[in-house]
Amino acid sequence: METTLGASLPTLAILGGTGHEGSALAQRWVRAGYHVFIGSRLAERAAQVATELNASVGTELAQGLENAAAAQAGDIVVLTVPPEAQLPTLVSVRAHLAGKILVDATARVDARDPRPPEGKPSGRRAQDLLGPEVRVVAAFQNVPAHALKKLDQELASDVLVCADDAEARSVVVGLAEAAGMRAYEAGGLDNGLIVEGLTALLIAMNKRYKSRSGGIRVSGISK
Ligand SMILES: NC(=O)c1ccc[n+]([C@@H]2O[C@H](COP(=O)([O-])OP(=O)(O)OC[C@H]3O[C@@H](n4cnc5c(N)ncnc54)[C@H](OP(=O)(O)O)[C@@H]3O)[C@@H](O)[C@H]2O)c1
Repeated sequence: METTLGASLPTLAILGGTGHEGSALAQRWVRAGYHVFIGSRLAERAAQVATELNASVGTELAQGLENAAAAQAGDIVVLTVPPEAQLPTLVSVRAHLAGKILVDATARVDARDPRPPEGKPSGRRAQDLLGPEVRVVAAFQNVPAHALKKLDQELASDVLVCADDAEARSVVVGLAEAAGMRAYEAGGLDNGLIVEGLTALLIAMNKRYKSRSGGIRVSGISK
């Protein structure tokens, strides 16, 4: 993984960055030299997670803030809150998202009864809420936090990146690669419904085979 600090790197805000997926992504990006604002509903919780992250990586690149302040501070904003909190959280920070890329990791799957989500994909819901001023990118929905945290093991889970804006899609593929993942552009936001459906499959298979790290890999495509 790249560890060179680069002043030209965009800053990242992770809303819900105190949780499983957000903190795992944050750790990888901080290790890659990105300045990461950890967002939380509680500034104190964010600060604690940022302090622990800095100590574990040996940098000062993580900083904890309340979600709205993190969204304001980050050049690119990543959303990692539970599905039921997706739209309320976006409403609470939308004033700070205009002109930015929003990376949405929401997979609307109930782990107790995993089945494909109904209706619009999460990324489309976010885009409809936020309007054209924000470029929404759906990504990381299939990448298990448990596997992301195991930095000493190869990540056997590729990232499928869906967005209507081609440049934003490409930027997020680059972010995933900087964090040590294989990532692929996978079409427009509406394809995100398939990606979320795959999450339901993976959760069902994790249960069947007693795993926490089930993932998918793309074959037959060389980049
Ligand atoms: N876990 C995975 O392996 C995984 C993999 C791929 C995608 N995802 C997706 O990533 C998202 C986060 O999953 P997770 O497992 O990381 O969730 P999580 O750990 O349960 O929650 C993440 C954070 O969201 C905040 N949060 C919790 N309830 C909230 C509410 N009602 N309103 C606003 N914020 C709330 C909390 O932060 P504060 O209390 O600090 O505000 C919490 O630390 C989900 O949409 C999930 O589908 C997860």
